[in-house]
Amino acid sequence: MDFYEVIQARRSARKFATTIVESDKLKRIWTAVQAAPSACNLQPWKFLVLRSPESHEKIRKVFHGWVTEAPLVIVALGNRQAAWRRDGESIHAVDVAIAMEHFVLAATKEGLGTCWVCAFDRRALSTALNLAPEWDPVAVTPLGYSTDPSPMSVHKNYTEFVEER
Ligand SMILES: Cc1cc2nc3c(=O)[nH]c(=O)nc-3n(C[C@H](O)[C@H](O)[C@H](O)COP(=O)(O)O)c2cc1C
Repeated sequence: MDFYEVIQARRSARKFATTIVESDKLKRIWTAVQAAPSACNLQPWKFLVLRSPESHEKIRKVFHGWVTEAPLVIVALGNRQAAWRRDGESIHAVDVAIAMEHFVLAATKEGLGTCWVCAFDRRALSTALNLAPEWDPVAVTPLGYSTDPSPMSVHKNYTEFVEER
């Protein structure tokens, strides 16, 4: 798959096989995340890889089920104190979102399914994972081989959101 094929192949997966994710694939994905840009190159992120049944169990209630059915759950954290600030406001969520999308696209290239998940109680997740207060759980994705048969979502045509001036 070339870059544009990867972009077109990505979709949100919400059903997964129990098949284990190969470690060489995971390493290539992390190398892609490593290359992500960030404000002032501060890279204010950390990614938790939840693999064990115990770790899945800890967060099951926060996600009401399906996310924790994937063999791996990735939790993308941003550091509120370490990130660049604009108008006094930490930009960590932007940095983490870019790194996370590197993750998602690299996973697609590796034939793996992901789904951005932001609809969770951040406080409950922080408590469940015993996170230090500076680490904000920005987004989560399950990772595994997708068995989700859902058709591709309808996306706006770019002519609807591109405006030349
Ligand atoms: C920032 C963000 C948050 C999202 N949060 C959730 C979520 O909490 N639960 C979920 O099932 N999907 C979530 N999604 C996935 C979107 O629903 C999905 O990307 C959108 O419907 C388009 O479908 P596609 O990804 O298959 O193209 C989220 C996506 C983004 C980018």
